[in-house]
Amino acid sequence: MNKFDFKNRTAVITGGGQGFGLDIAKRFLESGAKVIIWDIDEKLLKSASSEVNNENLSYNVVDVSNYSQIEQNINQITLKTNIDILINNAGITGPTAPLWEYDVDEWNKIVQINLMGTFNCCRAIAPNMIKNNYGRIVNVASVAGKDGNANASAYSSGKAGAIGLTKSLGKELADYNIAVNAVTPAGAKTRILDQMSKEHVQRMLSKVPRGRFLEIHEFTSLVCWLCSEENSFSTAAVFDISGGRSTY
Ligand SMILES: NC(=O)c1ccc[n+]([C@@H]2O[C@H](COP(=O)([O-])OP(=O)(O)OC[C@H]3O[C@@H](n4cnc5c(N)ncnc54)[C@H](O)[C@@H]3O)[C@@H](O)[C@H]2O)c1
Repeated sequence: MNKFDFKNRTAVITGGGQGFGLDIAKRFLESGAKVIIWDIDEKLLKSASSEVNNENLSYNVVDVSNYSQIEQNINQITLKTNIDILINNAGITGPTAPLWEYDVDEWNKIVQINLMGTFNCCRAIAPNMIKNNYGRIVNVASVAGKDGNANASAYSSGKAGAIGLTKSLGKELADYNIAVNAVTPAGAKTRILDQMSKEHVQRMLSKVPRGRFLEIHEFTSLVCWLCSEENSFSTAAVFDISGGRSTY
């Protein structure tokens, strides 16, 4: 595996209690970063923290759909250190159902987390990055946000929104050494798959020319490069990691 240099960098990773977020946290730590993982689930945070057992890892219980909670946490962190890297990774798919049968509150919640959560964290953290003239933001979208998955209208809309947000914010921050990019993975075997029906997961997999699930470490590698200093030009862009499913 390639080595990245994240010495003297501090990263906040949302939804970092498991899955993609925790794997990114581990690779950042191995690469010398200080990492703060946020998650809504305190139990997951505790077990992740004892599993990783690294003094450069800390955690906070943060619900990304709650702006004031995010602001308070950012204020606490930036009293002590700049935030160099933000991974907006927290997300839920919600259940699988056609739009006209979708529970209205559930639909709203999915968009609140996948889109508004990304907005909330970017809004609260961007001023610190501007002050520091340095930042790398990665918004974890999904191939569903590009293609639209049937029976996942809330998830597809939330992720499409996060892609639009990335394109806007990347341009707004382009005069600084701040990169804002989105990534659009296809299915990977994390706990998020439990939220959807088996048939839905199988349908998603059948669309992938590579014919398999994305491996978590493959995803982490892409995120690491996007967050490195070497990524000094790409911004406001969408990086595809869908095994050939989405070719635009
Ligand atoms: N695994 C896949 O197949 C896949 C594919 C495309 C995109 N994604 C995206 O990748 C990201 C990570 O997903 P994952 O596969 O690791 O899933 P996961 O379920 O393993 O992890 C998501 C984490 O987000 C946390 N979370 C949920 N709501 C939250 C909230 N309101 N505030 C803070 N944390 C919250 C959960 O507790 C969980 O720990 C998500 O945004 C997901 O949509 C995943």
